[in-house]
Amino acid sequence: SRDTLTDPLVAAIDQGTSSTRFLVFNARTAEVVCQHQVEIKQSFPKEGWVEEDPMEILQSVCVCVERSCDQLRQLSIPITHIKAIGLTNQRETTVVWDKLTGQPLCNAIVWLDLRTQSTVERLINQTPSKNKNHLKSLTGLPISPYFSAVKLRWLLDNEEAVTTATHTHTALFGTIDSWLIWCLTGGPNGGVHCTDVSNASRTLLFNIHTLQWDTHLCSFFDVPVEMLPNVRSSSEIYGYMSSGSLAGVPISGCLGDQSAALVGQMCLQEGQAKNTYGTGCFLLKNTGQKAVMSDHGLLTTVAYQLGRDQPAYYALEGSVAIAGAVVRWLKDNMGIIQTSADIERLASAVGTSYGCYFVPAFSGLYAPYWEPSARGIICGLTQFTNRCHLAFAALEAVCFQTREILDAMNQDSSAPLHRLQVDGGMTANTLLMQLQADLLNIPVVRPCMSETSALGVAMAAGLAEGVCVWNLSQQHTIATETYQPHIHPQDSEFRYSRWKAAVQRAMNWES
Ligand code: G3P
Repeated sequence: SRDTLTDPLVAAIDQGTSSTRFLVFNARTAEVVCQHQVEIKQSFPKEGWVEEDPMEILQSVCVCVERSCDQLRQLSIPITHIKAIGLTNQRETTVVWDKLTGQPLCNAIVWLDLRTQSTVERLINQTPSKNKNHLKSLTGLPISPYFSAVKLRWLLDNEEAVTTATHTHTALFGTIDSWLIWCLTGGPNGGVHCTDVSNASRTLLFNIHTLQWDTHLCSFFDVPVEMLPNVRSSSEIYGYMSSGSLAGVPISGCLGDQSAALVGQMCLQEGQAKNTYGTGCFLLKNTGQKAVMSDHGLLTTVAYQLGRDQPAYYALEGSVAIAGAVVRWLKDNMGIIQTSADIERLASAVGTSYGCYFVPAFSGLYAPYWEPSARGIICGLTQFTNRCHLAFAALEAVCFQTREILDAMNQDSSAPLHRLQVDGGMTANTLLMQLQADLLNIPVVRPCMSETSALGVAMAAGLAEGVCVWNLSQQHTIATETYQPHIHPQDSEFRYSRWKAAVQRAMNWES
Protein backbone atom coordinates (compact mmCIF):
# COMPACT_ATOMS: atom_id res chain seq x y z
CA SER A 1 0.00 0.00 0.00
CA ARG A 2 1.00 3.65 -0.34
CA ASP A 3 1.45 3.74 3.42
CA THR A 4 4.31 1.28 3.45
CA LEU A 5 5.82 2.61 0.21
CA THR A 6 6.39 6.01 1.81
CA ASP A 7 7.62 4.79 5.18
CA PRO A 8 10.20 5.82 6.28
CA LEU A 9 10.67 9.35 4.98
CA VAL A 10 13.67 11.47 5.89
CA ALA A 11 13.62 15.26 5.51
CA ALA A 12 16.35 17.83 4.97
CA ILE A 13 16.55 21.53 5.71
CA ASP A 14 19.00 23.16 3.28
CA GLN A 15 19.68 26.70 4.42
CA GLY A 16 21.83 28.25 1.66
CA THR A 17 23.08 31.78 1.12
CA SER A 18 20.38 32.67 -1.39
CA SER A 19 17.49 30.46 -0.32
CA THR A 20 16.14 27.97 2.18
CA ARG A 21 14.80 24.63 0.99
CA PHE A 22 13.05 21.74 2.69
CA LEU A 23 12.99 18.40 0.92
CA VAL A 24 11.33 15.16 1.96
CA PHE A 25 12.99 11.98 0.66
CA ASN A 26 11.72 8.45 0.47
CA ALA A 27 14.44 6.62 2.42
CA ARG A 28 14.08 3.47 0.32
CA THR A 29 14.39 5.06 -3.11
CA ALA A 30 15.97 8.48 -2.38
CA GLU A 31 13.15 10.03 -4.43
CA VAL A 32 12.00 13.53 -3.54
CA VAL A 33 8.42 13.25 -2.28
CA CYS A 34 7.83 16.99 -1.84
CA GLN A 35 9.76 20.21 -1.37
CA HIS A 36 9.41 23.92 -0.76
CA GLN A 37 11.81 26.82 -1.29
CA VAL A 38 11.92 30.40 0.03
CA GLU A 39 14.34 33.13 -1.11
CA ILE A 40 16.48 34.89 1.51
CA LYS A 41 17.04 38.64 1.44
CA GLN A 42 20.62 39.84 1.58
CA SER A 43 21.51 43.35 2.59
CA PHE A 44 24.61 45.28 1.64
CA PRO A 45 24.59 48.16 4.16
CA LYS A 46 28.09 49.32 3.18
CA GLU A 47 30.55 48.46 0.46
CA GLY A 48 31.89 45.00 1.13
CA TRP A 49 29.31 44.23 3.83
CA VAL A 50 26.88 41.33 3.38
CA GLU A 51 24.24 40.63 6.02
CA GLU A 52 21.20 38.42 6.49
CA ASP A 53 18.52 38.50 9.19
CA PRO A 54 18.74 35.40 11.45
CA MET A 55 15.02 35.69 12.29
CA GLU A 56 14.09 35.75 8.60
CA ILE A 57 16.27 32.67 8.10
CA LEU A 58 14.50 30.89 10.97
CA GLN A 59 11.07 31.89 9.66
CA SER A 60 11.95 30.72 6.14
CA VAL A 61 12.75 27.29 7.60
CA CYS A 62 9.42 27.15 9.43
CA VAL A 63 7.51 28.19 6.29
CA CYS A 64 9.32 25.55 4.19
CA VAL A 65 8.57 22.84 6.79
CA GLU A 66 4.88 23.74 7.04
CA ARG A 67 4.32 24.09 3.27
CA SER A 68 5.96 20.71 2.70
CA CYS A 69 3.79 19.13 5.38
CA ASP A 70 0.74 20.63 3.63
CA GLN A 71 1.87 18.91 0.43
CA LEU A 72 2.20 15.59 2.27
CA ARG A 73 -1.34 15.98 3.61
CA GLN A 74 -2.57 16.66 0.07
CA LEU A 75 -0.82 13.48 -1.08
CA SER A 76 -2.48 11.61 1.84
CA ILE A 77 0.92 10.63 3.16
CA PRO A 78 1.04 10.53 6.97
CA ILE A 79 3.46 13.14 8.33
CA THR A 80 4.45 10.59 10.97
CA HIS A 81 6.37 8.79 8.24
CA ILE A 82 9.07 11.45 8.61
CA LYS A 83 11.45 9.73 11.01
CA ALA A 84 14.39 12.13 10.96
CA ILE A 85 15.44 15.60 9.87
CA GLY A 86 18.88 16.61 8.64
CA LEU A 87 20.16 20.18 8.52
CA THR A 88 22.67 21.45 5.99
CA ASN A 89 23.70 25.07 5.77
CA GLN A 90 25.74 27.88 4.28
CA ARG A 91 28.96 27.68 6.24
CA GLU A 92 30.94 30.34 8.18
CA THR A 93 28.02 32.83 8.32
CA THR A 94 28.11 34.10 11.88
CA VAL A 95 25.26 34.72 14.34
CA VAL A 96 25.40 35.89 17.95
CA TRP A 97 22.24 35.77 20.03
CA ASP A 98 21.03 36.15 23.60
CA LYS A 99 20.22 32.86 25.28
CA LEU A 100 17.63 34.39 27.60
CA THR A 101 15.59 36.32 25.06
CA GLY A 102 16.29 34.07 22.07
CA GLN A 103 16.86 37.21 19.98
CA PRO A 104 19.82 37.74 17.64
CA LEU A 105 22.03 40.59 18.86
CA CYS A 106 22.76 41.79 15.33
CA ASN A 107 22.37 40.69 11.75
CA ALA A 108 24.26 37.60 10.62
CA ILE A 109 27.58 38.41 8.93
CA VAL A 110 27.52 36.36 5.73
CA TRP A 111 30.60 34.35 4.72
CA LEU A 112 31.19 36.67 1.71
CA ASP A 113 31.43 39.79 3.87
CA LEU A 114 34.67 41.78 3.68
CA ARG A 115 34.29 44.22 6.60
CA THR A 116 36.95 42.35 8.58
CA GLN A 117 39.80 43.13 6.20
CA SER A 118 41.62 45.36 8.70
CA THR A 119 40.88 42.92 11.56
CA VAL A 120 42.54 40.24 9.44
CA GLU A 121 45.59 42.42 8.81
CA ARG A 122 45.93 43.12 12.53
CA LEU A 123 45.60 39.42 13.40
CA ILE A 124 48.17 38.38 10.80
CA ASN A 125 50.58 40.99 12.21
CA GLN A 126 50.05 39.45 15.63
CA THR A 127 51.46 36.09 14.51
CA PRO A 128 55.20 35.53 15.09
CA SER A 129 55.74 34.84 11.38
CA LYS A 130 53.36 37.61 10.20
CA ASN A 131 52.00 34.98 7.88
CA LYS A 132 48.36 34.36 6.97
CA ASN A 133 49.07 30.62 7.09
CA HIS A 134 50.28 30.70 10.68
CA LEU A 135 47.26 28.75 11.99
CA LYS A 136 47.04 26.41 9.02
CA SER A 137 48.62 23.33 10.58
CA LEU A 138 45.99 23.34 13.36
CA THR A 139 42.94 24.60 11.46
CA GLY A 140 43.61 23.82 7.80
CA LEU A 141 42.71 27.46 7.00
CA PRO A 142 44.47 30.76 6.26
CA ILE A 143 43.53 33.81 8.36
CA SER A 144 40.96 35.38 6.03
CA PRO A 145 37.73 37.40 6.27
CA TYR A 146 35.96 34.23 5.06
CA PHE A 147 36.05 32.40 8.39
CA SER A 148 33.85 32.85 11.46
CA ALA A 149 36.37 33.69 14.22
CA VAL A 150 37.36 36.85 12.40
CA LYS A 151 33.72 37.89 12.04
CA LEU A 152 33.08 37.12 15.71
CA ARG A 153 36.15 39.17 16.71
CA TRP A 154 34.78 42.06 14.69
CA LEU A 155 31.40 41.81 16.42
CA LEU A 156 33.01 41.68 19.87
CA ASP A 157 34.98 44.81 18.99
CA ASN A 158 32.28 46.79 17.22
CA GLU A 159 28.77 45.70 18.18
CA GLU A 160 27.82 46.98 21.61
CA ALA A 161 24.96 44.53 22.13
CA VAL A 162 27.36 41.63 21.53
CA THR A 163 29.99 43.03 23.89
CA THR A 164 27.44 43.63 26.65
CA ALA A 165 25.84 40.18 26.36
CA THR A 166 29.29 38.62 26.39
CA HIS A 167 30.07 40.39 29.67
CA THR A 168 26.80 39.19 31.21
CA HIS A 169 27.49 35.65 29.88
CA THR A 170 24.24 35.51 27.92
CA ALA A 171 25.73 35.65 24.41
CA LEU A 172 25.86 32.50 22.29
CA PHE A 173 27.80 32.20 19.06
CA GLY A 174 26.97 29.90 16.20
CA THR A 175 27.08 29.37 12.50
CA ILE A 176 23.68 28.93 10.84
CA ASP A 177 23.46 25.24 11.84
CA SER A 178 23.86 26.10 15.55
CA TRP A 179 21.45 29.00 15.39
CA LEU A 180 18.76 26.88 13.71
CA ILE A 181 19.19 23.76 15.85
CA TRP A 182 19.05 25.89 19.01
CA CYS A 183 15.85 27.62 17.85
CA LEU A 184 14.16 24.51 16.47
CA THR A 185 14.81 22.47 19.63
CA GLY A 186 13.23 25.05 21.92
CA GLY A 187 15.33 28.24 21.89
CA PRO A 188 15.37 29.84 25.37
CA ASN A 189 13.31 26.89 26.63
CA GLY A 190 15.87 24.12 26.43
CA GLY A 191 17.32 24.69 22.95
CA VAL A 192 20.43 22.59 22.21
CA HIS A 193 23.55 24.63 21.47
CA CYS A 194 25.64 22.45 19.21
CA THR A 195 27.39 22.20 15.85
CA ASP A 196 28.99 19.37 13.89
CA VAL A 197 32.65 18.82 13.06
CA SER A 198 32.27 19.96 9.43
CA ASN A 199 30.83 23.33 10.42
CA ALA A 200 33.20 23.74 13.38
CA SER A 201 36.16 23.25 11.03
CA ARG A 202 35.26 26.52 9.24
CA THR A 203 35.66 28.80 12.24
CA LEU A 204 39.48 29.02 12.76
CA LEU A 205 38.80 28.08 16.41
CA PHE A 206 38.69 24.34 15.88
CA ASN A 207 41.63 21.95 15.97
CA ILE A 208 40.91 19.64 13.04
CA HIS A 209 43.17 16.90 14.44
CA THR A 210 41.78 16.64 17.99
CA LEU A 211 38.26 17.58 16.77
CA GLN A 212 37.86 20.07 19.63
CA TRP A 213 37.80 23.80 20.18
CA ASP A 214 41.37 24.83 20.78
CA THR A 215 42.14 27.03 23.76
CA HIS A 216 45.17 28.56 22.00
CA LEU A 217 43.08 29.51 19.03
CA CYS A 218 40.38 30.93 21.29
CA SER A 219 42.92 33.07 23.10
CA PHE A 220 44.53 34.14 19.81
CA PHE A 221 41.15 35.51 18.70
CA ASP A 222 40.24 36.46 22.27
CA VAL A 223 36.94 34.59 22.07
CA PRO A 224 35.34 33.20 25.26
CA VAL A 225 35.01 29.42 24.93
CA GLU A 226 31.74 29.50 26.88
CA MET A 227 29.89 31.12 23.99
CA LEU A 228 30.83 28.34 21.56
CA PRO A 229 28.48 25.44 20.73
CA ASN A 230 29.20 21.83 21.69
CA VAL A 231 30.85 19.98 18.85
CA ARG A 232 29.13 16.74 17.83
CA SER A 233 29.47 14.23 15.01
CA SER A 234 27.53 14.81 11.75
CA SER A 235 25.10 11.96 12.39
CA GLU A 236 23.51 11.61 15.83
CA ILE A 237 20.41 12.89 17.59
CA TYR A 238 21.04 16.50 18.64
CA GLY A 239 17.50 17.16 19.83
CA TYR A 240 13.85 17.10 18.80
CA MET A 241 11.70 19.61 16.93
CA SER A 242 9.91 21.57 19.66
CA SER A 243 6.93 22.89 17.71
CA GLY A 244 5.04 22.90 14.41
CA SER A 245 3.84 19.95 12.34
CA LEU A 246 7.06 18.02 12.95
CA ALA A 247 7.19 18.50 16.75
CA GLY A 248 8.93 15.51 18.31
CA VAL A 249 10.86 14.43 15.19
CA PRO A 250 14.61 14.08 15.87
CA ILE A 251 17.16 16.34 14.19
CA SER A 252 19.84 13.74 13.61
CA GLY A 253 22.08 14.98 10.80
CA CYS A 254 24.12 18.16 10.51
CA LEU A 255 26.64 19.01 7.79
CA GLY A 256 27.97 22.15 6.14
CA ASP A 257 26.42 22.31 2.66
CA GLN A 258 29.64 21.45 0.83
CA SER A 259 30.25 18.41 3.02
CA ALA A 260 26.65 17.36 2.55
CA ALA A 261 27.03 17.55 -1.23
CA LEU A 262 30.14 15.35 -0.99
CA VAL A 263 28.09 12.75 0.91
CA GLY A 264 25.08 13.19 -1.41
CA GLN A 265 27.31 12.56 -4.43
CA MET A 266 28.52 9.38 -2.69
CA CYS A 267 32.12 10.63 -2.63
CA LEU A 268 32.79 8.53 0.47
CA GLN A 269 36.08 7.03 -0.69
CA GLU A 270 39.49 8.65 -0.64
CA GLY A 271 40.19 10.37 -3.97
CA GLN A 272 36.54 11.05 -4.89
CA ALA A 273 35.56 14.67 -5.52
CA LYS A 274 32.65 16.95 -6.41
CA ASN A 275 32.19 20.59 -7.38
CA THR A 276 29.06 22.44 -6.25
CA TYR A 277 27.88 25.57 -8.09
CA GLY A 278 25.81 27.72 -5.71
CA THR A 279 26.33 31.33 -4.70
CA GLY A 280 29.99 30.38 -4.69
CA CYS A 281 31.65 27.30 -6.08
CA PHE A 282 33.34 24.65 -3.94
CA LEU A 283 35.43 21.69 -5.10
CA LEU A 284 35.99 19.11 -2.35
CA LYS A 285 38.11 15.99 -2.62
CA ASN A 286 37.81 13.28 0.01
CA THR A 287 41.25 12.49 1.49
CA GLY A 288 40.00 9.71 3.77
CA GLN A 289 40.98 9.74 7.43
CA LYS A 290 44.08 11.86 6.77
CA ALA A 291 44.13 15.65 7.01
CA VAL A 292 46.24 16.46 3.95
CA MET A 293 47.81 19.93 3.85
CA SER A 294 47.88 21.69 0.50
CA ASP A 295 50.93 23.34 -1.01
CA HIS A 296 48.79 25.06 -3.62
CA GLY A 297 46.35 27.29 -1.76
CA LEU A 298 43.62 24.79 -0.93
CA LEU A 299 41.95 24.42 2.45
CA THR A 300 42.00 21.34 4.64
CA THR A 301 38.63 20.76 6.17
CA VAL A 302 36.72 18.12 8.13
CA ALA A 303 34.39 16.58 5.57
CA TYR A 304 32.14 14.59 7.91
CA GLN A 305 31.99 12.17 10.82
CA LEU A 306 29.02 9.88 10.30
CA GLY A 307 28.39 8.86 13.92
CA ARG A 308 29.89 9.42 17.35
CA ASP A 309 32.00 6.27 17.19
CA GLN A 310 33.02 6.76 13.57
CA PRO A 311 36.28 8.31 12.37
CA ALA A 312 36.34 11.80 10.88
CA TYR A 313 36.95 12.07 7.14
CA TYR A 314 38.82 15.03 5.71
CA ALA A 315 38.75 16.90 2.42
CA LEU A 316 40.92 19.24 0.43
CA GLU A 317 38.77 22.16 -0.65
CA GLY A 318 39.08 24.78 -3.35
CA SER A 319 36.67 27.62 -2.57
CA VAL A 320 35.51 30.21 -5.10
CA ALA A 321 33.51 33.09 -3.60
CA ILE A 322 31.58 34.18 -6.66
CA ALA A 323 29.79 31.76 -9.01
CA GLY A 324 25.97 32.08 -9.02
CA ALA A 325 26.52 35.45 -7.32
CA VAL A 326 27.87 36.89 -10.59
CA VAL A 327 24.58 36.03 -12.31
CA ARG A 328 22.66 37.69 -9.49
CA TRP A 329 24.92 40.76 -9.87
CA LEU A 330 24.23 40.97 -13.61
CA LYS A 331 20.52 40.81 -12.79
CA ASP A 332 20.21 42.99 -9.67
CA ASN A 333 23.05 45.49 -10.07
CA MET A 334 23.45 45.79 -13.84
CA GLY A 335 19.94 44.90 -14.96
CA ILE A 336 21.19 43.18 -18.11
CA ILE A 337 19.08 40.10 -17.42
CA GLN A 338 15.59 39.82 -15.93
CA THR A 339 15.83 36.36 -14.42
CA SER A 340 18.87 34.23 -13.61
CA ALA A 341 17.89 31.72 -16.29
CA ASP A 342 18.19 34.48 -18.95
CA ILE A 343 21.97 34.30 -18.82
CA GLU A 344 22.03 31.02 -20.72
CA ARG A 345 19.93 32.42 -23.57
CA LEU A 346 22.03 35.57 -23.82
CA ALA A 347 25.37 33.75 -23.72
CA SER A 348 24.17 31.10 -26.17
CA ALA A 349 23.16 33.78 -28.67
CA VAL A 350 26.85 34.61 -29.23
CA GLY A 351 28.70 31.48 -28.02
CA THR A 352 31.84 33.51 -27.30
CA SER A 353 33.02 36.31 -25.05
CA TYR A 354 34.76 37.83 -28.07
CA GLY A 355 37.98 38.30 -26.11
CA CYS A 356 36.28 39.79 -23.06
CA TYR A 357 37.42 38.48 -19.63
CA PHE A 358 35.49 39.08 -16.43
CA VAL A 359 37.15 38.39 -13.06
CA PRO A 360 34.32 38.75 -10.49
CA ALA A 361 36.62 39.29 -7.47
CA PHE A 362 33.84 41.06 -5.57
CA SER A 363 34.95 39.60 -2.24
CA GLY A 364 38.64 39.49 -3.04
CA LEU A 365 39.88 36.20 -4.44
CA TYR A 366 39.64 32.95 -2.52
CA ALA A 367 41.48 29.77 -3.56
CA PRO A 368 44.18 29.47 -4.67
CA TYR A 369 45.12 33.15 -4.08
CA TRP A 370 43.50 34.13 -0.75
CA GLU A 371 43.86 37.80 -1.64
CA PRO A 372 41.17 39.91 0.09
CA SER A 373 42.38 43.09 -1.63
CA ALA A 374 41.68 41.81 -5.16
CA ARG A 375 38.73 43.51 -6.89
CA GLY A 376 36.59 42.68 -9.90
CA ILE A 377 37.72 43.55 -13.39
CA ILE A 378 36.27 43.31 -16.90
CA CYS A 379 38.85 43.64 -19.63
CA GLY A 380 39.31 43.10 -23.36
CA LEU A 381 36.30 45.31 -24.20
CA THR A 382 35.88 46.66 -27.73
CA GLN A 383 33.24 48.68 -29.59
CA PHE A 384 31.82 45.32 -30.62
CA THR A 385 31.28 43.95 -27.06
CA ASN A 386 27.64 43.69 -26.01
CA ARG A 387 25.75 42.27 -23.04
CA CYS A 388 25.66 38.79 -24.60
CA HIS A 389 29.47 38.68 -24.64
CA LEU A 390 29.51 39.89 -21.06
CA ALA A 391 27.05 37.15 -20.07
CA PHE A 392 29.29 34.59 -21.78
CA ALA A 393 32.38 35.99 -20.02
CA ALA A 394 30.56 35.68 -16.66
CA LEU A 395 29.87 31.98 -17.28
CA GLU A 396 33.43 31.46 -18.45
CA ALA A 397 34.64 33.10 -15.22
CA VAL A 398 32.88 30.39 -13.20
CA CYS A 399 34.56 27.72 -15.33
CA PHE A 400 38.04 29.29 -15.23
CA GLN A 401 37.85 29.63 -11.44
CA THR A 402 36.96 25.93 -11.25
CA ARG A 403 39.87 25.16 -13.56
CA GLU A 404 42.23 27.00 -11.20
CA ILE A 405 41.12 25.01 -8.17
CA LEU A 406 41.12 21.73 -10.10
CA ASP A 407 44.70 22.43 -11.22
CA ALA A 408 45.69 23.14 -7.61
CA MET A 409 43.98 19.92 -6.51
CA ASN A 410 45.81 17.89 -9.16
CA GLN A 411 49.15 19.47 -8.23
CA ASP A 412 48.60 18.50 -4.61
CA SER A 413 47.81 14.90 -5.45
CA SER A 414 49.41 12.01 -7.24
CA ALA A 415 46.07 10.95 -8.75
CA PRO A 416 44.59 13.68 -10.98
CA LEU A 417 40.84 13.75 -11.53
CA HIS A 418 39.79 12.34 -14.91
CA ARG A 419 36.19 13.51 -14.62
CA LEU A 420 34.41 16.09 -12.51
CA GLN A 421 31.22 15.31 -10.60
CA VAL A 422 29.16 18.50 -10.31
CA ASP A 423 25.93 19.63 -8.65
CA GLY A 424 24.12 22.73 -7.37
CA GLY A 425 21.54 25.11 -8.77
CA MET A 426 23.74 26.54 -11.52
CA THR A 427 24.30 23.11 -13.09
CA ALA A 428 20.83 23.42 -14.64
CA ASN A 429 22.60 25.69 -17.14
CA THR A 430 23.65 23.26 -19.88
CA LEU A 431 25.78 25.86 -21.66
CA LEU A 432 27.77 26.24 -18.44
CA MET A 433 28.18 22.47 -18.20
CA GLN A 434 29.48 22.19 -21.77
CA LEU A 435 31.76 25.19 -21.27
CA GLN A 436 33.10 23.61 -18.09
CA ALA A 437 33.94 20.33 -19.85
CA ASP A 438 35.59 22.30 -22.69
CA LEU A 439 37.68 24.48 -20.39
CA LEU A 440 38.78 21.56 -18.19
CA ASN A 441 39.36 19.09 -21.02
CA ILE A 442 37.71 16.34 -18.96
CA PRO A 443 34.12 15.06 -18.84
CA VAL A 444 31.70 16.75 -16.45
CA VAL A 445 29.11 14.50 -14.79
CA ARG A 446 25.87 15.93 -13.43
CA PRO A 447 23.30 13.98 -11.40
CA CYS A 448 19.71 14.35 -12.65
CA MET A 449 18.69 15.23 -9.08
CA SER A 450 20.86 18.26 -8.35
CA GLU A 451 19.84 18.78 -4.69
CA THR A 452 22.72 16.68 -3.43
CA SER A 453 23.36 18.71 -0.26
CA ALA A 454 19.85 17.94 0.94
CA LEU A 455 20.23 14.29 -0.04
CA GLY A 456 23.59 14.02 1.74
CA VAL A 457 22.33 15.39 5.04
CA ALA A 458 19.15 13.33 4.81
CA MET A 459 21.39 10.28 4.51
CA ALA A 460 23.37 11.41 7.57
CA ALA A 461 20.11 11.96 9.50
CA GLY A 462 18.72 8.56 8.52
CA LEU A 463 21.96 6.81 9.43
CA ALA A 464 21.94 8.05 13.02
CA GLU A 465 21.72 5.20 15.41
CA GLY A 466 18.19 4.08 16.13
CA VAL A 467 16.56 6.54 13.73
CA CYS A 468 15.87 4.65 10.51
CA VAL A 469 17.69 2.53 7.97
CA TRP A 470 18.93 4.38 4.91
CA ASN A 471 20.25 2.07 2.27
CA LEU A 472 23.46 3.72 1.08
CA SER A 473 24.21 1.22 -1.66
CA GLN A 474 21.02 2.12 -3.55
CA GLN A 475 22.31 5.62 -4.05
CA HIS A 476 24.80 4.32 -6.61
CA THR A 477 21.98 3.96 -9.07
CA ILE A 478 21.28 7.71 -9.19
CA ALA A 479 21.03 8.77 -12.83
CA THR A 480 23.60 11.16 -14.27
CA GLU A 481 24.30 13.07 -17.49
CA THR A 482 27.81 13.50 -18.90
CA TYR A 483 29.23 16.43 -20.88
CA GLN A 484 32.30 15.61 -22.99
CA PRO A 485 34.87 18.25 -23.93
CA HIS A 486 34.36 19.36 -27.54
CA ILE A 487 36.93 22.04 -28.29
CA HIS A 488 40.61 21.62 -29.07
CA PRO A 489 42.79 21.71 -25.89
CA GLN A 490 44.92 24.42 -27.56
CA ASP A 491 41.89 26.67 -27.67
CA SER A 492 41.06 26.15 -23.99
CA GLU A 493 44.72 26.64 -22.99
CA PHE A 494 44.87 29.93 -24.86
CA ARG A 495 41.67 31.22 -23.23
CA TYR A 496 42.87 30.04 -19.81
CA SER A 497 46.16 31.91 -20.20
CA ARG A 498 44.23 35.11 -21.00
CA TRP A 499 42.08 34.53 -17.93
CA LYS A 500 45.22 34.19 -15.78
CA ALA A 501 46.52 37.48 -17.17
CA ALA A 502 43.21 39.14 -16.25
CA VAL A 503 43.45 37.71 -12.71
CA GLN A 504 46.88 39.30 -12.29
CA ARG A 505 45.29 42.67 -13.06
CA ALA A 506 42.56 42.06 -10.45
CA MET A 507 45.05 41.15 -7.71
CA ASN A 508 46.14 43.68 -5.08
CA TRP A 509 43.83 46.28 -6.57
CA GLU A 510 43.31 47.93 -3.20
CA SER A 511 46.87 47.86 -1.94
O1 G3P B 1 31.31 28.40 2.44
C1 G3P B 1 30.12 28.97 1.99
C2 G3P B 1 29.23 27.93 1.39
O2 G3P B 1 28.92 26.95 2.33
C3 G3P B 1 28.01 28.59 0.79
O3 G3P B 1 27.36 27.72 -0.02
O4 G3P B 1 25.63 26.99 -1.59
O5 G3P B 1 25.25 29.00 -0.24
O6 G3P B 1 26.94 29.00 -2.10
P1 G3P B 1 26.21 28.24 -1.05
